[in-house]
Formats: sequence, C-alpha cells, structure tokens
Amino acid sequence: MLRTNTCGELRIENVGKTVVLSGWVQKVRDKGGMLWIDLRDRYGITQLILEEGKSDAAILSIARGLSREDVVSAEGAVIERSSKNANIPTGDIEILVAKLTLLNKSKTPPFTIEDDTDGGDELRMKYRYLDIRRTPVRTALELRHRLSIETRKYLDSFNFLEVETPYLIKSTPEGARDFVVPSRMNPGEFYALPQSPQTFKQLLMVAGIDRYYQIVKCFRDEDLRADRQPEFTQIDCEMSFVTQEDVLQTFEGLITHLFNKVLNVQLPTFPRMTYADAMTYYGCDKPDIRFDMKFVEMNSIVKEKGFPVFDSAELVVGINASGCSEYTRKQLDALTDFVKKPQIGATGLVYLKCNLDGTYKSSVDKFYSPEELAKWAAVFGAKAGDLILVLAGGADKTRKALSELRLHLADELGLRDPKVFKPLWVLDFPLLEWNEDEKRFFAMHHPFTSPMEADFALMSSDPGKVRANAYDMVINGVELGGGSVRIHNRELQKQMFSILGFTDEEAQNQFGFLMNAFEYGAPPHAGLAFGFDRMCAIFSGKDSIRDFIAFPKNNSGRDVMIDSPSVIDAKQLLDLSLTINK
Ligand code: AMO
Repeated sequence: MLRTNTCGELRIENVGKTVVLSGWVQKVRDKGGMLWIDLRDRYGITQLILEEGKSDAAILSIARGLSREDVVSAEGAVIERSSKNANIPTGDIEILVAKLTLLNKSKTPPFTIEDDTDGGDELRMKYRYLDIRRTPVRTALELRHRLSIETRKYLDSFNFLEVETPYLIKSTPEGARDFVVPSRMNPGEFYALPQSPQTFKQLLMVAGIDRYYQIVKCFRDEDLRADRQPEFTQIDCEMSFVTQEDVLQTFEGLITHLFNKVLNVQLPTFPRMTYADAMTYYGCDKPDIRFDMKFVEMNSIVKEKGFPVFDSAELVVGINASGCSEYTRKQLDALTDFVKKPQIGATGLVYLKCNLDGTYKSSVDKFYSPEELAKWAAVFGAKAGDLILVLAGGADKTRKALSELRLHLADELGLRDPKVFKPLWVLDFPLLEWNEDEKRFFAMHHPFTSPMEADFALMSSDPGKVRANAYDMVINGVELGGGSVRIHNRELQKQMFSILGFTDEEAQNQFGFLMNAFEYGAPPHAGLAFGFDRMCAIFSGKDSIRDFIAFPKNNSGRDVMIDSPSVIDAKQLLDLSLTINK
C-alpha cells in the first residue's frame, strides 16, 4: 500500500503513530530551517514537516524540488503541532517526514486548485480532471453519489426493480430533437438515442415488472441553459395498478426521504396546485412559493378611466412588493428597464406607492383619483409601505413577464433563500397545446399521457379543453420531475395519435410496438421521472447543473476536454454509408 491513512483522518489521538500518506502537493512553505508541505487527497489536507538538521539531507532536497500538484508519498510519525490550525480537521497534528518519494511530477496547473479558483469556466472544463480535485466540485459529486444510494435504498424497499433499457433505440417523441447514430450493418438507417426510456418502461409494465426504476442517461438535442444538458440523468420510474394519488404519495415519499437522509431537512406534506391556479397566481407552471407576491388581476377596477394602455389591454395584472414603497426613481427605472428587455417583452411598468403617511403616489395619477388608487391597494390587501407593480397587455405574454419580474424582485429582496425548500405538486395540466405555426396540437407532456376521466368526452368534441392526468413536482421554482397516468388502451392511444395529426399508418409505423403490446393485457400504469442533475443542484441551492456532472458539455454542446464532437475519417464515413456535404 502506498498509504496507511488518508490525508483527512489523522487526529491528536494518533500522535506517535508511524503513517504513510500519499497525495498531491497543495503548497510548500520553505522557511530555511523548516519546510512544510500541505498534502491533499480526496479526504482532506495534512501538513508534513521537515527540519534542517533533523531530516535527512536527501529528503530535504526532494522536498525543496516539489511544486504544486506533484504526487508524493510520505512516511513519518504523527506529532502534535505547535501552532494548531482550527480551520481543518487535521489541524492539531503534522507528520514529521522520515521518507519522501516523488511518485509523479506535475506541470504547473493552468489554474489554482483551491476552493476559490482563478480559472474561468472554459479553462476549468478543459482541465476538468484538475477541477474535480477542488473541494466544491468533489463535494458536488459526493452529494450526487449519496442521492443515488438513498434513492436506490428507498425504491428497493418498495419493491422497485432497476431494469436497464437500451440506448440504441428508435426516436420517442418527447418534444426535443433526437441524437442519431448511423447503423453500419443497416446502411442508410439510424438508431436514435433515447430522450427518455418512456416506451420501454411502459412495455415493462405490460411485461408484469410492476414497479420499475432506472437511474438513466437521456439525450436531447435542444438549446442548452444552466439547467439543461444534452445528456442528462433521470430517476425514471413506473408503477402498475396505481392511481395518480398512489404515484404522488410514493414519490413525495422518495423526496421527503432524500431531504431527510441527505440534508437532515424535514419537509412538510407537499401542497398541490392546479395548473390553472399556477398560471393565474404565479404566471408560470413552476411557481417558486418560498415567497408570496401572488398575482392580482385588475381588469375590473382599472378599465375605462381614460388610460389607453389599460383600456386596450387583454389583461392588467400586478404584484405587491411588500415594504418597497420607498423605492427611488432610480430603482423604479431599473425595474422598468428590466421588464422592457426583449426577453421579458413588456411595454412598460406602472407602479403605485402606498406611502407610509397613508397617501398614494402612482405613475398614472393623471388617470386615477386617490380614491381609485385606494381601491387598487384594497384588492392587493396592501398596507402603508407597500409598492404595487402592474403590467398590461396580451394575457399570456403579460403573465409571463410579471412572473419574471416577481422572481427578479424576490432575488433583489433576498426572498429566495437557497437553504429553504418549498416543494409542491402542480396538477391537471392541459393534455394538448396548440401550435400556431404547424396548425396542430402537440402533447403537452407526451402522447402516452392519459386524459382525465372526466374529460374523456371532450376528446372528440373539444380536445383543446381536455385536462391530462399529469403532474409535475416543483421545488423552489424548478421543475424537478414530471409524469402522468398512461393510456393503456389501444383505441384511446390511437385516438390520441389521430388528434396529434398522425395517420393510422404513421401511428402504426412509429408506435405499433407499443399499441400492439396494449392488446396483450396491458395493466393500468403510471409513473414519472425526476431530473437527477437538477435534483443535485436543488439540494445544493445552485442554479447550474454543470458542477454536478463529472464531465459536462458547454453551452454549445461541446466537451472541450476531449474536443467533441469531432470529424470522423473518410473510412469511417464510408463504413457507415455516409457522405458529408461541405
Ligand atoms: P420530462 O421530459 O418532463 O419527462 O423529463 C423529466 C425531468 O427530466 C429533467 N430534464 C432535464 N434535465 C437536464 N437537462 C435536460 N435537457 C432535461 N430535460 C428534462 C427535468 C424534467 O422534469 N418520460 C417522461 C417522464 C414520465 O412521463 O414518466 C419525461 O422524460 O427535471
């Protein structure tokens, strides 16, 4: 063994013991008579000490030649430190080095390997193996490991069976583009990498597996953001002979278990909100409910008072920024600039200050009397000291813009504490979404989602009104997971494909394997999938999922470390019957 102990475990009780430690040189301090080396491994840092006169000259010479990130092995006695370091767990002791071996030399690393690094994102990704040596990245991977272990324990205790499904499949329509893989043995034909194992897990239900899960890679060729990667991981689950309620209970149980075991946080029962309420009160389907600031619709009290912007608007809607009536001109201008940004898209921002002296001041005083402004305050339940912010315009766009403003303000006011966790279920999503460009319906979740039983009749008369038996779990404004009760009847599945614009033949070609299986005794089934990378980020209070993935892609979908994607040579192209048009 090149070590008897790790660099994180020796304590004052170990004084007198002879040990061998191996690791990376974090720092060397040479004070002439004394020389200290901070030796680091995955578990921590231990100080090594060498002394002129006491230590062997050859060893001192090796030590003097060391630089950052060299790999060394040191043998020596654990001694008590004269000046202790309370900041690290091994800070009471050091190792008086008797033997020192240089195991491997390191070039000067391109950035400092410490908690706070001077390396930019791209550089850290290029040298990700060095980045992972840093404690924050390593602890992110440790958290991921813990979450996967606890997930497996919980699901195993409820009889879920982990079954692997193939990666070389045929496309499943989840809304994103597929990554495809050419088949050498079938010239001109392609596999698709799964966007999720959706159809396979349903087939496992037909196969009687009953309770399935898989911690599984999924691939989606979509535009990337902080919370999206082209390959990401799901905790994918499916159950037979269950209702929606059973699924909600089971997986609320999983998340509660994970928070309890991994963060020691006890979550209360999750509130439930319909999609319709989420849109009405928060303007989005993944509301952050760590703070209130619910939307209040104002059409009935602001129209026909001569203010053309409100008169012509489909929706006038506002929020109450409690305690913000003292906002300065500059602050209000900044909020106006925020909502007018092209990605937010509002045309302007109206405010009403409920002053501490009981008077009102608005940006539309010209059109509204103090009595009318008092009515505004009343519908918001606003008190002296509050600031009401109002947007107007087309309903969907205005709700979306106000939702962004709500989050922006909450960030400014420090209302989004990453250590506070507010989960909820969002239920009763619409089954279908109309796409104006293609003039057809798309499935809001996916085409295998069952309509709510109460809305079955609407399937033929008014499909746009049908609600889905679908649910999302949201935590702190992030969609952590989602799923649905599935269609398990061939005729209903056929009807669904027909509403989505598939001919019978197209449906049979693409999904015949699933619809045929439904004819052999498909049990009622339902399930969901959690975004595992997002789960890690949420548990750590972070927005970006990148640091929870050992080797992530950048925003252009590139792995800058291995430099991929890359061209392939002419022979490989020929084997695959591919030609590239340049
Ligand atoms: P859905 O498409 O909602 O459902 O995906 C489930 C969860 O996966 C996460 N997720 C992502 N995470 C990182 N990068 C991405 N590009 C990405 N895309 C999605 C989200 C999301 O909530 N088969 C269905 C599930 C089911 O019905 O059982 C599905 O894949 O956290």
